[in-house]
Amino acid sequence: MRKKIIAANWKMNMTIGETETFCSTFLRELGDERKVEVVIVPPFIAIAKASEMLRDAQSVKLGAQNMHWEKSGAFTGEVSAAMLRDVFCHYVVLGHSERRTIFGETDEAVNKKTLAAHANALRPIVCIGETLAERDGGLVEKVLDTQIRGSLAGLTAEQLEESVIAYEPVWAIGTGRTATPQQAQDAHAFIRKTLADIWGQPAADKVRIQYGGSVKPANAAELMSQPDIDGALVGGASLEPRGFAEIVLNTAKVLG
Ligand code: 13P
Repeated sequence: MRKKIIAANWKMNMTIGETETFCSTFLRELGDERKVEVVIVPPFIAIAKASEMLRDAQSVKLGAQNMHWEKSGAFTGEVSAAMLRDVFCHYVVLGHSERRTIFGETDEAVNKKTLAAHANALRPIVCIGETLAERDGGLVEKVLDTQIRGSLAGLTAEQLEESVIAYEPVWAIGTGRTATPQQAQDAHAFIRKTLADIWGQPAADKVRIQYGGSVKPANAAELMSQPDIDGALVGGASLEPRGFAEIVLNTAKVLG
């Protein structure tokens, strides 16, 4: 059984003070729910505060939104995997579509980061997904196949199993336009089949594949009920602690 994993990608939002308030409200709302793994992904500056606030919450882990692949050195504006470990991150989001489109990240760069994350015992959440033009052009499978082969090249089957893939159709991010549960399930099934073709079925069966794109409390349960959807990467709706807790609790309900 793959444990469902719901992550809060705060993007460029939340000060240290807001992080403190969020965490105390969120933990209260979450109560003793343990069935779902939760990952909070603050901006770099707020990670240490989140780490302090979440220290005793066993099912809540921390992640970062990006990192550089080198260990250290003259890379102004970047942070390393070791620095993220130092503030108790377990996860790092890599290749988010905003990194790819606004900051020009290529599959090759995402691949270097993914390998570096594993080398430093960080679990990557590797984001892939097509644009609206690509979907309309019938290119969904081609785009996903290219991103999977490019971003995950050179991983061992064990490293793949410890990775999380986030399927985020670009047209559903921040638009209020969610993929239908069937559209998302179809893409997830294709992703798992592609992983199985490359790394074998047992490894592919263990990888968790999150859906991202306008996930809200109202649509979480239906999305999370799909057989190949193992969690969510939540943007806008993760900034409000009660709503985000509701997404986690609605996911837990699906599990019975
Ligand atoms: P929204 O939930 O705001 O659509 O963002 C999705 C996302 O990009 C999460 O990484």
